[in-house]
Amino acid sequence: MYEGRGSASIVLMVAVVVVGVAVVFHGQVAEAATYSVGGGGGWTFNVAGWPRGKNFKAGDKLVFNYNSGVHNVVSVDRGGYRRCTTPRRAKMYRSGKDQIKLVKGQNFFICNFSGHCESGMKIAVTAM
Ligand code: CU
Repeated sequence: MYEGRGSASIVLMVAVVVVGVAVVFHGQVAEAATYSVGGGGGWTFNVAGWPRGKNFKAGDKLVFNYNSGVHNVVSVDRGGYRRCTTPRRAKMYRSGKDQIKLVKGQNFFICNFSGHCESGMKIAVTAM
């Protein structure tokens, strides 16, 4: 009898801890926001102004929606963003619906199809 009651309260304690962890974890997940780059128009020309006025946080997710036959997304450095060039080890995405998590500080993305970045297919996002 005594043992039975003891294990029952252990089960209860474990349940309380699991629920507590789940609540905390859920709260953290809910804090990260997801943004569709370019809004309804998606990742396309002249989106360079899209980040303006938004408050991005590290861990927020950018979703790039585009036709993968004619565009891509390349994570570049500041120089790549400014000059529309692709650094040698740049990470390239080409699924057409890429999800990229922002890191703290500046995040630069361009489309490196010929002439696209020059036509404003580039964004610079600062995450706090
Ligand atoms: Cu493009």
